[in-house]
Amino acid sequence: MSTLPDSSSRYSHVRHDDLHRYAADPERGFLPSEDPLRRLPAEFAIWEEIAADLPKLLATQRVRSVLRRLPILDPSSLTWRELDRAMLLLSFLGHGYVWERWRETAQTLIPASVAIPWYQVAQKLGRPPVLSYASYALDNWRRIDEAGPIELGNIALLQNFLGGLDEEWFVAVHIAIEAQAAPALRAMLAAQDAVARGDAPSLEANLRTIHAAIEAMYAILLRMPENCDPYIYFNRVRPYIHGFSETPVVYEGVEAYAGRPQTFYGETGAQSTIVPALDAALGIVHSPDDLRVYLNKMRDYMPVGHRAFLARIESGPSIRAFVQESGDASLRDVYNACVHLVEAFRAKHLEYAAIYIHKQAQHGSYNTTHYGTGGTPFMKYLKKHRDETAQQILARNESGVGDRNVAPEAAPGAP
Ligand code: HEM
Repeated sequence: MSTLPDSSSRYSHVRHDDLHRYAADPERGFLPSEDPLRRLPAEFAIWEEIAADLPKLLATQRVRSVLRRLPILDPSSLTWRELDRAMLLLSFLGHGYVWERWRETAQTLIPASVAIPWYQVAQKLGRPPVLSYASYALDNWRRIDEAGPIELGNIALLQNFLGGLDEEWFVAVHIAIEAQAAPALRAMLAAQDAVARGDAPSLEANLRTIHAAIEAMYAILLRMPENCDPYIYFNRVRPYIHGFSETPVVYEGVEAYAGRPQTFYGETGAQSTIVPALDAALGIVHSPDDLRVYLNKMRDYMPVGHRAFLARIESGPSIRAFVQESGDASLRDVYNACVHLVEAFRAKHLEYAAIYIHKQAQHGSYNTTHYGTGGTPFMKYLKKHRDETAQQILARNESGVGDRNVAPEAAPGAP
């Protein structure tokens, strides 16, 4: 795959604080501007201690007995940064409780000691009380060398279920991808700004920045198999991140739920804002299907600011239409190169969905090989979304009008 030359900064119209309004950062993208908090104030020490012991408690199947004895703590004094940490801890505890014995059974009542503060913290953050991508990946890391970059080799997780290299790597790859995506965020805003002003050179420069970011994201995605083994992922990592969509759970003592079982989806990369934002910026559309319905629901699981960023990009001027109508070959080429890379990303991702889940041997009914965390038969739909991405490549005709409804030349890694 060719590397387009980088054309650095044509950002004059998009300011730094534009991203901060969306809880995003020009250097870190959707990762928090400050490294995630590593410990809550002393009065929450019991949450910290049990969470630190979670790998051992899961291995000995003692999560349930320990959490049943936990007192109910009041999270109302927590600051925003502390709320993110509390959400992370309670999400790991809640999922440990429900899925401790996943091979035989799911626990369908979360005790008040976890359920009540989890619900309160989730309400404040505007997300459901379930483990989501934000707690599993975005807020769950530290740097080994605190002055070094956020990249593979310098990222360690703050919290694990069982722990071990494969779990650590699976999540670290997601975090590293988010870090690589950072330059694309401001470039998406700047590219739309350029369209609004009719400034083709600025649009082209920003599309090059987006291209470089997707290329770097793709390079990280390729590294997943280095340290994450498919068998270990399927049998030791995935079981604990399932949600409660197939096995509704009661949140004991949460008045708003009045004892009614609740269904929430589990953690998935589909709750990352970066790919939908790229789809929106590049005008990649997916015809109605079950996965698209599910992907729209995943927005409720994203941090509120990230959702707002996505909405802003979706309501912005169409980069694709501008490129198409301009008849500018160089603009079209860089646009097409971006779409081509998103397709390559989806093709590799589909390969992983097949190897890490679909081709694994299923044990019991709670960790299925055919349905994703959202309950969709994911192979069929992930394929469709890859193909729909390829179909957005713009034709090479002189007028610049019309799409080429065939797949582009084989993307690297395409199955
Ligand atoms: C071994 C690695 C991975 C596996 C097995 C995997 C599996 C899946 C599955 C089964 C789905 C279908 C929807 C669902 O049920 O949630 C999905 C969706 C998705 N995943 Fe992953 N995933 C992996 C890595 C990643 C990474 C590193 C990212 C990067 C952010 C990512 C981003 C996405 C996105 C954006 C979707 C929504 C579908 C789309 O827009 O094409 N995944 N994933």
